[in-house]
Amino acid sequence: MIQFFGKFHPLLVHLPIGVFIFGVFLKGYVAFKKQEIDEHIFKLIIAATMISSFLSVVTGLILFSGGDYEKDTVLFHRNMGIVFTAVSILIYIFNQKRWSIVIWLFGLVVLLFTGHLGGNLTHGEDYLTLELSKPQRKPIANVQEAKVFDDLVRPILEEKCWSCHSSKKQKGKLRLDEKEFILKGGKNGKCIDPLNSLLLERLNLPDGEEEHMPPKGKPQLSNQEKQILDWWIKNGADFNKKAKEISQTPADKKALLSFQSGENSTVSESIIPEKKVSEPSKTALEILQKAGLVVNRISPETNYITITVFENKLQEKEISALKELKKNILILIARGHKDKNLIAEIGNFSNLRKLNLAESGITDDDLNKFSSLAELRVINLGGTAVTEKGLLNLKTLGKLKTIFVYNSKFNKKQFKQLKAQFPKTRIDTGGYQISQSDSSKFVM
Ligand code: HEC
Repeated sequence: MIQFFGKFHPLLVHLPIGVFIFGVFLKGYVAFKKQEIDEHIFKLIIAATMISSFLSVVTGLILFSGGDYEKDTVLFHRNMGIVFTAVSILIYIFNQKRWSIVIWLFGLVVLLFTGHLGGNLTHGEDYLTLELSKPQRKPIANVQEAKVFDDLVRPILEEKCWSCHSSKKQKGKLRLDEKEFILKGGKNGKCIDPLNSLLLERLNLPDGEEEHMPPKGKPQLSNQEKQILDWWIKNGADFNKKAKEISQTPADKKALLSFQSGENSTVSESIIPEKKVSEPSKTALEILQKAGLVVNRISPETNYITITVFENKLQEKEISALKELKKNILILIARGHKDKNLIAEIGNFSNLRKLNLAESGITDDDLNKFSSLAELRVINLGGTAVTEKGLLNLKTLGKLKTIFVYNSKFNKKQFKQLKAQFPKTRIDTGGYQISQSDSSKFVM
């Protein structure tokens, strides 16, 4: 709440500037025209200057405490602001002295200098309302179905670039708010050439470099945002395609996932239980994120999470972090994950509803330990070494609705027998019967 008052700083600072400059004129008028005016009027002007500059300093300090500014400029600006307040006190005391015009002028210099430094720091005209009206990104339920430009790229540009590159301002003669302007580029010409993109070049310059974008002191792109822009441009900067239509490296996939909103609509029926579990351990979440896993809080109220593991091997500390979160994990996606350490743990994730182990290293033996997954609704074992024998371990899971086994080691005959063992579960062998919507559900 107190941070809110900091927002008034850019507004308040204009008061001492206006009032004091008026005072300087008056003082000059009195000095040159040899006119007398009532000292009360001066006292009033100076008192107003003193109070408003004091409040400016206070709100400025609040603002600074909550912001990400370049330290040096801000400290200089702050000190000058304090000096100015002190000078205004001196003027209040000594205004009737003959030499007081000197402190008035000194005050003016300090004031203008403070104002100039402050101007350098501000974030542009919409700063006052920035926090209140920060553009809200549209939630993306399934990022692979999202339109790359409209849903991913444009919101990044809007949030991080439009303050200087849009209809409002065109720094470097560049606008990034409409397709035609983006294609046109800035004063150096085209900036999204897939082979030699000036835009990417500027993003990737070291932070300290003058031409680094966004400029120093402005909100920077996250690594994922950079990855998305990089991926989009290097694949031809298409304005119409969906994410799934553009080829993706594992790193791209990971960045894309981070744009998927928590309310995961790939969870077709509401599989989020009403029963709450305890808050997931922060340290455990951090360990996993550091190791490159993607963690989504699908249901912040009930503390359930989705975890996506990639192909990399997990270390002991990540495994124990997963153990700590075993009650929180509702969905686990470990497509292509070959490491046995994780697979051996899955049986303990007692609230697990969806499990994607397609193309993973799972074998029949591992499925032994899955009989404890009483809440499991969907499992994807496509492209694994699992056979009918292993699958029988899942027979006891009363809530299991679908087993995907596309490309697994079955023959048709075995499959028929298997089906008879799972009266309530659909076994989807893909290929000849898998529907598009089902498969995309599991792209996740
Ligand atoms: C605070 C203002 C500001 C923000 C925010 C900002 N830029 Fe810039 N940008 C500038 C200025 C100033 C220049 C001109 C620098 C120069 O003379 O080359 C520039 C130049 C550029 C250019 C070079 C254009 C040309 O043809 O010379 C590119 C590309 C660019 N910006 C991309 C971006 C991107 C992408 C973002 C958002 C991630 C961004 N900028 C955010 C101020 C900004």
